[in-house]
Amino acid sequence: MKGRLQDKVTLITGTGGGQGRAAALRFAREGAIVFGCDFNAEGHRETAALMEAEGFRLYGSAPLDLGEHEHAKAWIEAAVAEHGRIDILYNNASAARFAPVHEMSIEDWHYTIRNEIDLLFYTTKYAWNHLARQGGVIINVSSTAAWGGSRVAGIAAHSAAKGAVVSFTRQLAVEGASLGIRAVSISPGFVATPGTREFLENPKARAMLLDGVLLDRPGEPEEVVALAAFVASEGSFITGSDLVIDGGLLAI
Ligand SMILES: NC(=O)c1ccc[n+]([C@@H]2O[C@H](COP(=O)([O-])OP(=O)(O)OC[C@H]3O[C@@H](n4cnc5c(N)ncnc54)[C@H](O)[C@@H]3O)[C@@H](O)[C@H]2O)c1
Repeated sequence: MKGRLQDKVTLITGTGGGQGRAAALRFAREGAIVFGCDFNAEGHRETAALMEAEGFRLYGSAPLDLGEHEHAKAWIEAAVAEHGRIDILYNNASAARFAPVHEMSIEDWHYTIRNEIDLLFYTTKYAWNHLARQGGVIINVSSTAAWGGSRVAGIAAHSAAKGAVVSFTRQLAVEGASLGIRAVSISPGFVATPGTREFLENPKARAMLLDGVLLDRPGEPEEVVALAAFVASEGSFITGSDLVIDGGLLAI
């Protein structure tokens, strides 16, 4: 049986991480050809092994640092050389540093901006003409940090970058519409991943992180990725929007 994303060449960034791994698996199960990357080579290899166990292949490379624009360009070109086209660009990777604004170092500010928004510009810039040929889809992962502050962590740099992801995506939708490109951002609330699980295992930290989440639990990577799969396949009238998936956090 054909999947909803049958033979769609899908570039997913951050395939060594929690949501990138779930995305690689989900998109492959939907029939997509998945081309990934990560600066965490071990995580990327583990994802490849999980995919192989289901009879799929993870293309792409790691370690690769998308914060270096030449590397981002080379990664996009490698995907096109190998698969001939790009149908979907799923900009999932990011890395942030946290501190109260007056204590945040200049270096940590730039690290966060580089690894949360600069890399989206690079992959999008280099994939754009290929996506235009296919009437492609861009999915950019933002965060509820784009929409609300946090009493728990110093998220000034992170929220600035994730806010930029939302507004960047809106402009991509405007520039892409006449080319058949759709661009959508997704803003998850707190998601349980290997990176966040240690906080969730600490009852005090868990209670603070889930404060205000109506469903009283973190999201699962699979829930975010299911939304992305819908956007990429049946969501053909969605563009320029930010889709919040947060268990009700922003409702109050
Ligand atoms: N986990 C959460 O609670 C949560 C909440 C809201 C939004 N998000 C967003 O979801 C997305 C996925 O995050 P996750 O939860 O899977 O976290 P994660 O840390 O498990 O995965 C992110 C991956 O991106 C990779 N990466 C970061 N910078 C990179 C670069 N410059 N080049 C190549 N790879 C790079 C990391 O190595 C990591 O494997 C991110 O954009 C994150 O900001 C996460």
